[in-house]
Amino acid sequence: MKKTEEIEKLKKECLEFCKKHLLYRQGTEPVFGEGSLESKIILVGEAPGYYESMSGQPFCGAAGKILDELLASAGIKREEIYITNVVKLRPPNNRDPKPEEIKDFSPYLEKQIEIIKPEMICALGNFSTAYILEKYGLKAEIQGISKIHGKVFEIDEKLKIIPLYHPAVATYNAGMKEILKKDFKVLKRS
Ligand code: URA
Repeated sequence: MKKTEEIEKLKKECLEFCKKHLLYRQGTEPVFGEGSLESKIILVGEAPGYYESMSGQPFCGAAGKILDELLASAGIKREEIYITNVVKLRPPNNRDPKPEEIKDFSPYLEKQIEIIKPEMICALGNFSTAYILEKYGLKAEIQGISKIHGKVFEIDEKLKIIPLYHPAVATYNAGMKEILKKDFKVLKRS
């Protein structure tokens, strides 16, 4: 099966799953993920916010504007990469995702990674970093994002994992944007 067919099939399954999930609210959209299936880079956020749940698109609200700026500063076009979240439905009032919610949705993220076969997984923020590091056997490396942002974990010669601050931090702390920009340069270098 071609990557496009595989991802469409997975998306359909995921949307069906979402409709039965406790986080599902009528009138809102699941956010599966989007971008190039040929990308070497996958960005993994936490969960959709309000605007994402209205449009079905990842990172299209305030954090998304910052993400676009960060990508532009690294010389990367959004459509060249693949962007998704660990949790595919918006938690009420944007609360943190619960461990069981991360567990519920993780098979879809795993399958997305399997289909796209990226060379670099960038985990945005604490929740997605903890999930990705544990998935690749690096549980012992899990620390707060302030300690490990920008660090490159080589899984093998074909895959690197890079924890990054979540772009939303720059919406409430403008000074963080420069740190984010510096870290995002790793996307171009690696
Ligand atoms: N924050 C996330 O983690 N993901 C989104 O898609 C939007 C905001």
